[in-house]
Amino acid sequence: MKLLIDDANVEKIRKLVAEYPVDGVTTNPSILAKAKRNPIETLHEIREIIGQDALLFVQAVPTDTEGMIKDAKAITKEFGQNTIVKIPSIPAGFAAIRELKKMGIHTCGTVVYTPMQAYLVAKAGADYVAPYVNRIDNMGYDGVGVVKEIQNILTNNHMDTEVLAASFKNSMQVLSLCEYGVGAATAAPDVIEALVKNAAIDQAVDTFVDDFKKLGYGDSMAEILDK
Ligand code: G3P
Repeated sequence: MKLLIDDANVEKIRKLVAEYPVDGVTTNPSILAKAKRNPIETLHEIREIIGQDALLFVQAVPTDTEGMIKDAKAITKEFGQNTIVKIPSIPAGFAAIRELKKMGIHTCGTVVYTPMQAYLVAKAGADYVAPYVNRIDNMGYDGVGVVKEIQNILTNNHMDTEVLAASFKNSMQVLSLCEYGVGAATAAPDVIEALVKNAAIDQAVDTFVDDFKKLGYGDSMAEILDK
């Protein structure tokens, strides 16, 4: 499963990219709005941090087919290879995805709440499909279950489209989908960090260091070997 950061805070992204094996960054208009600065500048800075080989997801803002295609062309021209354009999974979006596929522009059908939306954007030629786990949960359905259903639809229909599960509230939701083997998941920095934040882990690491120091030879293997 690919793991991506769902955020546009460049400081948080810089820290996570330095430490975690992430595959890229996903954004949407609301995420960019939270950064409260020129969205193009923000996206350029993110691209610089993650490098050109990592995935960068940028959403087309218009809701009509022509506008989506225009945004998609502008986005990919500006941010280069490995930039994927998120297109809302509505009828106008199905048409845009089909046209963009012909142009060789990579897309992700986003705002997915139902398996049927996922099936249709996959059929239209999207590279990714982004179901909103937590928002589905909040509607009284099983978000993780819906994503598994979507993964089954894609697998059983031999579709190349990858699931990019999004909208997570907690790390267990991410882990369940990792175990199921979905293509990708994108989560906010705090949800990613929560996957490895645990007092027992910190205590175990600290104990190893303390025990070694108590031996009295030095604080590290290198220190002893360099003597
Ligand atoms: O990109 C989609 C995702 O960011 C939505 O997440 O937390 O706004 O439901 P959320």
